[in-house]
Amino acid sequence: MPLPPVSVRHGAIQDADADALIVNLFAGVAEPGGATVAVDTALGGAIRDLIRTGDLTGAAGEVKVLYPRGAIPARRVLVTGLGPADAFDVHAARRAAAAAARAARDLGAASLATIVHGAGIGGLDAERAAQATVEGMLAALYRYDAPKQKKDEKAVKTIEIITLDGAQLSSVEAGAAVGAAVADGVALARDLANGPPNICTPGHMADTARRIAADVGLDVEVGDRAWAAGYGMGAFLAVAQGAGHAPAFIVLSHNAARTDVPTLVLVGKGVTFDTGGISIKPSEGMEAMRGDMAGAAAVLGAMQAIGRLKLPLRVIGITPCTENMPDANAYRPADVITASNGKTIEIISTDAEGRMILADALVYAARFQPAAVVDLATLTGACVVALGQNIAAGLFSNDDALAGRLLAAGDASRERLWRLPLWPEYREAIETERADMKNSGGRQGGVATSAVFLQEFTSYPWAHLDIAGMMEQKKGWDLGPAGATGYGVRLLVEFVRGWAVA
Ligand code: BES
Ligand code: MN
Ligand code: ZN
Repeated sequence: MPLPPVSVRHGAIQDADADALIVNLFAGVAEPGGATVAVDTALGGAIRDLIRTGDLTGAAGEVKVLYPRGAIPARRVLVTGLGPADAFDVHAARRAAAAAARAARDLGAASLATIVHGAGIGGLDAERAAQATVEGMLAALYRYDAPKQKKDEKAVKTIEIITLDGAQLSSVEAGAAVGAAVADGVALARDLANGPPNICTPGHMADTARRIAADVGLDVEVGDRAWAAGYGMGAFLAVAQGAGHAPAFIVLSHNAARTDVPTLVLVGKGVTFDTGGISIKPSEGMEAMRGDMAGAAAVLGAMQAIGRLKLPLRVIGITPCTENMPDANAYRPADVITASNGKTIEIISTDAEGRMILADALVYAARFQPAAVVDLATLTGACVVALGQNIAAGLFSNDDALAGRLLAAGDASRERLWRLPLWPEYREAIETERADMKNSGGRQGGVATSAVFLQEFTSYPWAHLDIAGMMEQKKGWDLGPAGATGYGVRLLVEFVRGWAVA
């Protein structure tokens, strides 16, 4: 389902003609200011009445509706809560925007007009505030277009951002453009991860990459089995060996030919369905493994936004894609596999497939002489045990400066990261007599032993993000419906933009 277009204009919000007009309120404020008081005055004090009765408090997540009855052109006024002023930040603005958009959509409003949350009294940078407002609204309005005969009819068709401060207009336009590019990337990532594995196959991932490349002007290369064999990618091919759907090793390049700017490489795990292979998973809950390509989906979504925003860096997106199936040809426990850097791997579990395909992708990344490589992968259940579901992704890095940049991007985007240790002692768990390493270190420290495995294939500043706990939400949440979250798109775009300015 396409996201509604967003336009920006200079004007007074109370004059806007829309199905729903959106203003805001800080918690505990008796006398509203800015655009809210302008609308309140036009409504003869109706907003202050709601505050006085206690029906409107400004709490985060609260949205209250008023009916202007002809006092202004809009059909509805929605007041969204910003929460307490002393805890206000960009994320509070994003959440308030999201809550209002969802409430307006649920009421059946097709046209929305909103102020920029936080750009006035909130004291946020106008561009950042506009980005957050657009990101929040579009994230909340996202819906997966499931192949069902009965569809939800309610849909927002247009969003107008209105700013009274003419001096802020160009900043608001710039921020709205970033927000829309990011939101489109998030929607793309969600669509891929929500897609069923018989439809969202490696071939579908490749078609999507080609479409992104054509849309925003990237170079694209899709490697098949023979291509991967040419690079000696034994680890990627081992996982693909049992797959019915052909694998695809996708490389998207932004500013491919530029040599005057640093190169960042983004790598995403693209297991389009993870049965576990011969080390088969229990059938209960296995359907969640439709999302085991969430890392690849985030990289594709981020590459689309990076291309559209023409960020001044060379950025390469690499997504090795395959399903992991049990089959007569499937790789098996006890197999010894040679990766493209010549290192040998003894297979303990065919369910530790993500690190296998990432191994060859990380080796391939070195050819771009990257300033940094960041991989995202739904890699271990152990990471979810350690950090919880929908709390933070695990961050491992061999470079403190890179880790610092990622942590900062995680704060700004509110796609949280928590750093975990990459101590050399973890390497002992993957020692074996029969190869250079084994692909599973067992239960204890399972998240860190997967990271030291990946490290064997890196030769540059590198960070690994284990996003297993972040790929889906079981219920509707602040920034979207139940299902795939698109986690990582906002984080990666923020990270790359941060690198570009510094
Ligand atoms: N894709 C899974 C990890 C996963 C689990 C992602 C839950 C999302 C939610 C991964 O391929 C896997 O199977 N990991 C194993 C590793 C083990 C065999 C060393 C795991 O976590 O059990
Ligand atoms: Mn697995
Ligand atoms: Zn997996």
